Amino acid sequence: MLLHIPEVLSRDALNEARRITAGAAWADGRITAGTQSEKAKNNLQIPIDAPASRKAGAIVLEALGRSALFFTAALPRRIFPPQFNCYRGGTNVFDNHVDNAVRTHASTGRHVRTDLSATLFLSEPAEYEGGELVIEDIFGTQSVKLPAGDMILYPASSVHRVTPVTHGARVASFFWIESMVRDGGRRRLLFDLDMSILGLRDRLGDTSEVVRLTGCYHNLLRMWANA
Ligand code: NI
Repeated sequence: MLLHIPEVLSRDALNEARRITAGAAWADGRITAGTQSEKAKNNLQIPIDAPASRKAGAIVLEALGRSALFFTAALPRRIFPPQFNCYRGGTNVFDNHVDNAVRTHASTGRHVRTDLSATLFLSEPAEYEGGELVIEDIFGTQSVKLPAGDMILYPASSVHRVTPVTHGARVASFFWIESMVRDGGRRRLLFDLDMSILGLRDRLGDTSEVVRLTGCYHNLLRMWANA
């Protein structure tokens, strides 16, 4: 499932994240690449343990914590610390690759299985040319370029790329989520059920059928969740 989550960052949070990343020391993006993606990758990143990455990452995590849509779509168990990349000038592209299945936190040794990938845009589309996130999966090929503060959530198992930025700079936060529900089909079913129940509750209130359906949602989640 590909899900656009609008306005994950408030205007203030976005401005603060932009201010922090603008003043950061950027490094070669291949520091976090695997052996295949190393050849495809040519961008910039803020090193994960740099103060700027931690500070801006905390802003992203706080915003995620307030997003009900993110929670119901991802059912997050663990989130690998948000990182930041920049595509500009001669470091402007990331060709086709699949994200590593497991990420290991260098300082703690803790593993995160990457069920979902996320990109949260910090640059406005008008600030750069090119730089589309192109995602290929069973739903076909999708090209994504979102307003600053918006986020795209997509299967980490998909082949994806960022097309060359030919003008300006594209700054974004990227991170991975291990879900409580590992199977994407089950996550999709739970998401559809949850959104439908919300719609029914809005229209009908808490009728006995809505209450029972809500029970079905939670009992399915109980059956499938590895919390
Ligand atoms: Ni990737």
